[in-house]
Amino acid sequence: MNDTNAHDTVRSVLWRGDRLRLLDQRKLPFAEDYLDCTTPEEVAQAIRDLVVRGAPAIGIAAAWGVVLAARRGRNAIDSALPLLRAARPTAVNLMWALDRMQRAAATDADPQALEAEAQRIQDEDLAANRHMGALGAGLLGENVGVLTHCNTGSLATAGYGTALGVIRAGVSSGAITRVFAGETRPWLQGARLTMWELGHDAIAATLVSDSAAAHLMKSGQVQWVVVGADRIAANGDVANKIGTYQLAIVARHHGVKFMVVAPASTVDMATASGADIEIEMRDPHELLSHAGQRTVVEGAVAWNPVFDVTPAGLIDAIVTERGVIEHPDGNSMRALFA
Ligand code: MRU
Repeated sequence: MNDTNAHDTVRSVLWRGDRLRLLDQRKLPFAEDYLDCTTPEEVAQAIRDLVVRGAPAIGIAAAWGVVLAARRGRNAIDSALPLLRAARPTAVNLMWALDRMQRAAATDADPQALEAEAQRIQDEDLAANRHMGALGAGLLGENVGVLTHCNTGSLATAGYGTALGVIRAGVSSGAITRVFAGETRPWLQGARLTMWELGHDAIAATLVSDSAAAHLMKSGQVQWVVVGADRIAANGDVANKIGTYQLAIVARHHGVKFMVVAPASTVDMATASGADIEIEMRDPHELLSHAGQRTVVEGAVAWNPVFDVTPAGLIDAIVTERGVIEHPDGNSMRALFA
């Protein structure tokens, strides 16, 4: 099967003309509930609470938040922009989408004009993902096993996904014969979301605990680690979900290749290196309890950074819709993104 649209049936960010409907990712996989937002404040809250998550999806949701503000007038746009911008710090797609909406509003603040811009942002993301899927799948080889981390699929984007798009394309072409998903503690994006999304689209996958990654690679079942990104710095360093960095180190040790898949909206040429990327810290209770149930002794403290930085030197390929960068560094990044 070579249809790039196959195995892609989930949509998480839905514009309904007067409101933004979000598939509530806090409740998956046990409930498919939607949350409707009618104000930019509600959109910002939904981003903070991870109702919608994944770098491209939060940018798209924020763009629709600006459309909701525009219906209340020019001043409402001006106050919505900083509110939405502050919702989460690490994924640059959020700032990128808001910059784009701000530029559009400077030309024409009419809600209909801004609606068209938000729709373009959403449509372009889907097109980029399909293109990256084909580019990334072309690098894989034959009969390969892949390990992915977090959720980078239709839930995290306008559709198809970044790393999960490469996996969709690789499964469709037959290049990928084994898919492993890491559980992605503490919020369990891999266990709760990726396993649900792949099951929904009839792609067979095997869940592994995050701590099984080295043992899995040593077993020879995985030839590529394929992940997404929240921000790619000018030198090719990549911020992504916590645990990505250790996967890259373990992959290099075992001769497993490491691919990052992200649209140009994730590239931040104004940030020199990964050291300059703000890493979001979330509530320690995400670690101290599970499913609302305390799992650690009262009084215990926890440190909960939710992203880390993988140095460019550990990355074999960055796949974007503009093309593939093998062994990224400042020069190759500049050549594609200057
Ligand atoms: O905290 P999250 O779930 O928003 O983190 C998501 C990730 O780290 C993804 O890997 C990244 O945003 C890419 S999604 C295409």
